[in-house]
Amino acid sequence: MSAAAGVERGGLGAGGGGVAAMLGGALPPCADPAGELGKLLSGAYPDAGGRFGPFGGRFVPETLMGAMERLERAFAEAMADAAFVQSVAAQGRAWIGRPTPVMVAENLSRAWSGGGGGRVVLKREDLAHTGAHKINNALGQALLARRLGVERVIAETGAGQHGVATAAACARLGLPCRVYMGAVDVARQAPNVQRMRWLGAEVVAVQSGDRTLRAAVDEAFREWVRDPERTHYILGSAIGAHPFPLIVRTFQSVIGREARSQALELLGRLPEAAVACVGGGSNAIGFFHGFLGDGQVELLGAEAGGVGVGVGQHAATIAFGRPGVLHGCHSMLLQDAHGQVQDTRSICAGLDYPGVGPEHAFLSWIGRARYEPVQDAEALGALEDCCRLEGILPALEPSHALALARRWLGRNPSGTVLVNLCGRGDKDMPILMRAMEARAPDGHGADGHGAGAGGGGPVGAGGGTVGVGGAASAGGGQR
Ligand SMILES: Cc1ncc(COP(=O)(O)O)c(C=O)c1O
Repeated sequence: MSAAAGVERGGLGAGGGGVAAMLGGALPPCADPAGELGKLLSGAYPDAGGRFGPFGGRFVPETLMGAMERLERAFAEAMADAAFVQSVAAQGRAWIGRPTPVMVAENLSRAWSGGGGGRVVLKREDLAHTGAHKINNALGQALLARRLGVERVIAETGAGQHGVATAAACARLGLPCRVYMGAVDVARQAPNVQRMRWLGAEVVAVQSGDRTLRAAVDEAFREWVRDPERTHYILGSAIGAHPFPLIVRTFQSVIGREARSQALELLGRLPEAAVACVGGGSNAIGFFHGFLGDGQVELLGAEAGGVGVGVGQHAATIAFGRPGVLHGCHSMLLQDAHGQVQDTRSICAGLDYPGVGPEHAFLSWIGRARYEPVQDAEALGALEDCCRLEGILPALEPSHALALARRWLGRNPSGTVLVNLCGRGDKDMPILMRAMEARAPDGHGADGHGAGAGGGGPVGAGGGTVGVGGAASAGGGQR
């Protein structure tokens, strides 16, 4: 650790497979969870080294150090500048459509609580401009890029939502934009690739590595190393080296702030649980931050359980990972015995990542949030129920959160669970059409019945809607 800057200097893993995993054993349990949470709530974390307890930090090559320090300074100055903060909020209202609503999903509540009277409440980030929460961070960072005076923006994307959001924000602010996307994701999220191009961005299909989100982040960092002075890298999740997890969380915290006061207004009290899906963790961390100080609210993260618990069958980083370094930050990581990053698998491009933001690793370590894997089939079942019962087509990512909410209601049938519905499912149409076709050989697959809707009843923890398991495998996760 560098005493002066309080940060580690080292390889980002931008070359040769793109990964710098550090072998890490299991961490000792946290000795003082309440004290650690207090440090987070008081703003002592992230500390000067960008750490949340044992997680976080800045493991980047010397060539990026100047840019990272400049970004850290510029971000702190921007957040202390009332005019900047007001402009983010004003554009949030006018251009993104904030605040997004909160609603009680009455039909899902009835179907999933099994007569227990429990409630599912949805925070409708799917109604944000461009269709997902990603726009909150993209707009904030694009405004920051303009303040930095850079000449162009680069970004990575998995499901394409962050790419679309960044392309849109750059179009609005007149910034040239290039988006790196794994070739597997280019194929499975085709509608979003076209949208990015229409919005004026250049989309680069990354053929190296696992050709999904991890490879796209590798490539974006590689490009940033080439020209850090004139380029800003709009990282799309709460991952990476300090200050990215802090920046992304700050711009996404609007979700939790709104959701908390809207829930109080709508329900007259806070929910018992708040659930969000976790890829890198940006929607979840922004959402959770609204409730961190409310000890009575259980915080639950849904990780991608893919098709099983074996190596390479999922992307459930906190459930199955160990501490290690990926993309400049020390967090939980799916790695083998030699520290090589494991392949991941999920029907859902946005959750298909072997790392996770350091603040989630921290929240899990201190026990403030709990993370559970949700398999493809279970997420598809929840998606179907949400379509049929609420008239909302959610993205595959928050369908994992919905499935976890259903599981939670199975355990707490009279409870109230607030779900961050962080994106809409239009981008997933190609995958969903393949999944539905695969489950119904007559070609009329979409008329099957959802778990809760057609009298099938809620399924248990490891379950899923009948017949979609094979479809899930066919639709995504293939390399
Ligand atoms: C709609 C949607 N939700 C969730 C995610 C996962 O990202 P994060 O964990 O950063 O919120 C993505 C990523 O692309 C997404 O598109």
